[in-house]
Amino acid sequence: NNRLAVKLPGLELKNPVMPASGTCWYGQEFAQNFDLNVLGSLVIKSTTIQPRDGNPKPRTTETTGGWLNSNGLQNVGVDQVVGAKLPWLATNFPQLPVIGSAAGFSIEEYVTIVQKLNHAPNINAIELNVSCPNVAHGGLAFGTDPQTVEELTKQCVAASQVPLYVKLTPNITDIVEIALAAQRGGAAGLTMINTLTGLSIDLNTRKPALGNGTGGLSGPAIKPMALAMIHKVRQVSELPIIGVGGISSAEDVLEMMMAGANAVQVGAANYHDPLSCPKIIAQLPTVMDFYGIDNLAQIQGAQF
Ligand code: DOR
Repeated sequence: NNRLAVKLPGLELKNPVMPASGTCWYGQEFAQNFDLNVLGSLVIKSTTIQPRDGNPKPRTTETTGGWLNSNGLQNVGVDQVVGAKLPWLATNFPQLPVIGSAAGFSIEEYVTIVQKLNHAPNINAIELNVSCPNVAHGGLAFGTDPQTVEELTKQCVAASQVPLYVKLTPNITDIVEIALAAQRGGAAGLTMINTLTGLSIDLNTRKPALGNGTGGLSGPAIKPMALAMIHKVRQVSELPIIGVGGISSAEDVLEMMMAGANAVQVGAANYHDPLSCPKIIAQLPTVMDFYGIDNLAQIQGAQF
């Protein structure tokens, strides 16, 4: 009877904490810092059909308000992911639930990536990343239009044996509209939120600090926004929500679950401290004791 355990479609997790997509790539570097088996799950970097070098450098910068990235979906491509990266995780961490992440430039590409990721034996679920703010003709182009989200989700669900979670963008007027479109499309759950479009200027060059111009903002500044959006979606939908946005402590985990999340992802905090996830997990029982929470299953997906 593990008091940290939570259950979501495709995911029986010993605790609700996992690194957010992109923040631990395929787990290899992370595994040098700590035993990945302590994680609830691990989300790999979004996968495209072809390998991608990413956006012009620099791709990351620290701002007073948080971490700004414009990685531009840098990744090794779906064949390498399925042929090498996922097998490495399966060999070294056979018990670790893994979540894939798909990013396409057409609905057909999303479907193909989902089909290929399904071939990996250790994929428990897949996120449909329709919310990357850093690429043209992809990401936001899909995730901001309800009809596209519904159709894309529907086609991917038809092609997948594992549950699909649609990753929502906060760069939109009404996130509820997109959440409900994903639900109509048959999503098993939602992951929210991706990063907020932001800009940082280098005073010396008088130009954007990032090679791509804008980037996606993450870190503590976006936590209240993530909570508000999760809570808003929770009011109208019973879909499981994997909450992400500014989590850096066990208290943050409880707060996000009380706002309506069923599990949580840690993003920017991993850059400041690669041991953030194991530290948060280790702190959870003590903080739960303090607030009189017996087990997390009681508060997951809370409604108030
Ligand atoms: O902030 C983000 N950066 N969100 C994504 O979905 C993708 C990533 C990137 O590769 O640019």
